[in-house]
Amino acid sequence: MSKYPKIDLDGALVAISGAARGIGLETAKAFAARGAKVALGDLDADLAAQAADAIGTRAIGLALDVTDKESYRAWLAAAEEWAGRPLDVLVNNAGVMPNGAFLEQADEVDRLTMDVNVYGVIHGMRLALPGMVERGRGHLVNVASLAGKFPLPGLAVYNASKYAVVGMTAATRLEMKDTGVSVTAVLPSAVRTELSSGIDLGVLPTVDPEDIANAVVKSVRTRSGEIAVPGYVGVASNAATLVPEPILGLVRRAAKDDAAITRVDDSVRTKYLDRILKK
Ligand SMILES: NC(=O)c1ccc[n+]([C@@H]2O[C@H](COP(=O)([O-])OP(=O)(O)OC[C@H]3O[C@@H](n4cnc5c(N)ncnc54)[C@H](O)[C@@H]3O)[C@@H](O)[C@H]2O)c1
Repeated sequence: MSKYPKIDLDGALVAISGAARGIGLETAKAFAARGAKVALGDLDADLAAQAADAIGTRAIGLALDVTDKESYRAWLAAAEEWAGRPLDVLVNNAGVMPNGAFLEQADEVDRLTMDVNVYGVIHGMRLALPGMVERGRGHLVNVASLAGKFPLPGLAVYNASKYAVVGMTAATRLEMKDTGVSVTAVLPSAVRTELSSGIDLGVLPTVDPEDIANAVVKSVRTRSGEIAVPGYVGVASNAATLVPEPILGLVRRAAKDDAAITRVDDSVRTKYLDRILKK
């Protein structure tokens, strides 16, 4: 028997950060389709509200800036008030992925990356976990990345942020082990969303946001600690640490692992970078 009390998604409250588009939006749809009440939060409040309207009465879209703890607190409180019940599942999904050679990145871009991808997740965990522990049930998913296990040229600070999330998730999972509350990291490979747009990722396995949404929903049942999507890339990234550097280098070259520097279509990429840097 699982050490985690079952969460019946029918009527449960699921809150998802960064849910106005991409993986977060598909995750919201997938939970709503299973009867959950979904609270979408996003920096783009209008888009979050529109997305929730399209999902229907089981969804609400609200403003959220995950880098601001008070904004995060207000969002969770509004979600619970709307649903009339405490939070069952939190999906820390909001994230940004600036790309480029490490030596050419601006300091404020590094800060943004760490603020959203690391502190945004810390805020969500610090605010949601105490209530879950008190109730003895709950599930928290951090959408990390395979970049949290496998370094890629052109994504050094993004790598740093996602390695942080993978480590933090694993450690808090241990701390929570006797509380009835589970903490899971989902590690997508490349996903077809705006975040990776304009980068030709070569042979890197690419999946759809729906695939990540399904993995997040499934985690409510399995409560696995770490879920890579597709699964085999998780095994491969763990195995890569055992491969001697010269051999791994050959594989990396064949796979064009420096795509985030060398295989970028600026006319597409600029649109994404302008959005996250609010230009
Ligand atoms: N797309 C990929 O290839 C890929 C691969 C691995 C992991 N991921 C991770 O998946 C998550 C979702 O990415 P996506 O591909 O759907 O990206 P996306 O850009 O399509 O959507 C991300 C959403 O997060 C929102 N957001 C950004 N900053 C925010 C903030 N401060 N507060 C609240 N919302 C904020 C954005 O407005 C946007 O709606 C991210 O954590 C990303 O790192 C994506």
